[in-house]
Amino acid sequence: MKALIQKRWVWLLMVFFAIVITIMAVVPYATLNRENFAPVFDGRFELGGEIWLYIHVFTGGIVLFTGAFQFWKWLRTKHPRIHCLTGRIYLFLGIFPSAISGFIVAQGTVAGLTGQFGFSLLSIMWIITGVMALRTILQRDIQHHREWMIRNYALTFAAVTLRLWLPLLIMIQASSGIEIDIAIASAYQTVPWLAWVPNIIVAEGLIHMLQPNKTKSLITNQQLSTQ
Ligand code: HEM
Repeated sequence: MKALIQKRWVWLLMVFFAIVITIMAVVPYATLNRENFAPVFDGRFELGGEIWLYIHVFTGGIVLFTGAFQFWKWLRTKHPRIHCLTGRIYLFLGIFPSAISGFIVAQGTVAGLTGQFGFSLLSIMWIITGVMALRTILQRDIQHHREWMIRNYALTFAAVTLRLWLPLLIMIQASSGIEIDIAIASAYQTVPWLAWVPNIIVAEGLIHMLQPNKTKSLITNQQLSTQ
């Protein structure tokens, strides 16, 4: 199983989804035309309030795109400076502004209280795992930095899984005869949780499986901090 996870195609699949979803999600907003916003934003954002949505979407695009490359072994080992630079971009131009603006936008979601809580908790956990990833790398604790980055990117990937779950849930309900409007509304109330809870469970499983021999990792960390 560990060997399967470390296979190149798994990473390529992740990059593929990150790029496709970044393009699909961000392009309509890049037109700066309210008519191209998702229908959930109809009638919302008076007096320039949509600025938070723009900040969230554009910085979210940075997160999704740059984050995928942080797991590229070749870049980490051959060009550690680039890894370090894109890591800073990921956190400071991506995670932090996108999570704060995502939290603000979440307070008006049409997904109701369930959605408000789901998206808000996701934003908070996004920040916490990002801060932990930063803190551990500043302490040169590579092993824990890697683990916090896996958790953080699993949450980032909620942007992808949300857009996969949504049509799937709608299709399942519609195929059992539920009216399309009702199917959309109930699917939209489910995804603020379904988009990230399974991801974080998978991330924990991954971290567990990729765990190296504890003694070996301690030695590596000590060696690095004395360099
Ligand atoms: C993982 C943490 C994230 C949180 C907590 C979050 C939160 C939110 C919230 C609350 C909304 C508004 C939904 C509503 O009003 O019903 C939203 C919309 C949106 N978010 Fe995020 N988001 C996250 C990640 C991302 C990422 C990484 C992207 C990458 C592009 C992204 C792109 C978008 C887009 C494009 C919309 C507008 C809806 C659409 O057109 O599909 N978000 N997000």
